[in-house]
Amino acid sequence: MRFYELDREGRLAVLKEHASLTDEDIKILREGSGIDFKMADSMVENAVSFISYPLGIATNFLINGKEYLVPMAIEEPSVIAAASKGAKIARLRGGFTAHADPSVMIGQVQVKDVMKDVEKAMEEVMNSKDELLCIANSKSSLARKGAGARDLRCKVIDTARGKMLIVELLVDVKDAMGANVVNTMCEAIASRVESITNGKVLLRILSNYAAYRLVKATARFAREEVGDDAVEGILDAYAFAEADVYRCVTHNKGVMNGIIAVANATAQDTRAIEAGAHAYACRSGRYSSLTHWGKDSNGDLVGSIELPLAVGIVGGLTSTHPIARLSLKILRVGSAQELACIMASVGLAQNFSALHALVREGIQAGHMRLHARKVAMLAGAEGSLLNEVAERLAREGNITVEHARQIMQEIGSDS
Ligand code: MEV
Repeated sequence: MRFYELDREGRLAVLKEHASLTDEDIKILREGSGIDFKMADSMVENAVSFISYPLGIATNFLINGKEYLVPMAIEEPSVIAAASKGAKIARLRGGFTAHADPSVMIGQVQVKDVMKDVEKAMEEVMNSKDELLCIANSKSSLARKGAGARDLRCKVIDTARGKMLIVELLVDVKDAMGANVVNTMCEAIASRVESITNGKVLLRILSNYAAYRLVKATARFAREEVGDDAVEGILDAYAFAEADVYRCVTHNKGVMNGIIAVANATAQDTRAIEAGAHAYACRSGRYSSLTHWGKDSNGDLVGSIELPLAVGIVGGLTSTHPIARLSLKILRVGSAQELACIMASVGLAQNFSALHALVREGIQAGHMRLHARKVAMLAGAEGSLLNEVAERLAREGNITVEHARQIMQEIGSDS
């Protein structure tokens, strides 16, 4: 049986086997255990309750030769099925090839009112680079693990309020998202930067434009599976996105459907991911597609994606939220770079499937099938009856609970 044909227990059994989950892990998944109120209350202000999303599993992902089952948490129907479908077609040509850069984040220290010549101040900061890196690294154990603050650079910017000196720390945060450690380092060097420059330090904060933390994934989608017309259609759809910002935002939104669903499942900072991705899409000065589509000599569709991804497998909620911890366990990831490779591959698969559906039947048909299933369930259909009722609801184009009950009665009286 295929994964989606299994019932919940069957799916949990596959996960157990795939990721060597313990009975306790399965219990946590079965109960959907999240954080408790005490923890919620310590995390945000004025806490009163929780909101939860469904957690589903995307299948068929073969990335750099490794098999993955990918947890995705999202409220939107069709996304998980679409990712799985894209991955299924990609694996016919060997799956995804992905690479993520080392986890280098940028921290910024803003210096204003530089009394000296600002160019001179910049030179003096650069002359004190080793000392400043040493102060930054004294705040974390990263340097002992071969990472930490690696480099420092300066730039002078012209702003509406005059020239400012910006000191930037480049920090390899290894397997963390890195916000905490980078902010701590920026704060740590601030007073020394002030004394070197005779200026006034204002902001000390990481940049969410993780432009050095790029991930790239590519895949081939077999022409015979995609269909020749659809290959051409996808190239036309890509051209549309590249030429028109209104389409391009929606195109990239489809990419982010996949990336953010994995980010939700693993408790990443989704706002940082979105902000960084869209800034990257604008890097040429024009908003553009995060994916690229072409055709090889075989006529296969070739897709690639490139974006910055600041994601972590340690720190934050990644290891304290029970479901996030289990999502990472199901992914069997060993590093933040590997997680980024998975997320980029899911984004590419998602974009492929959205475009494939759009150039063929449109996306509403898939949505309607899922909607019909939901309505059949609400009407009380279960097991094999559920599929039959859902199919008829969709086919007959009358997707209401009332009609579902009518169909159930008819089926009941026929049998
Ligand atoms: C819907 O959430 C995402 C799509 O609109 C993406 C696209 O149009 O490429 C289907």
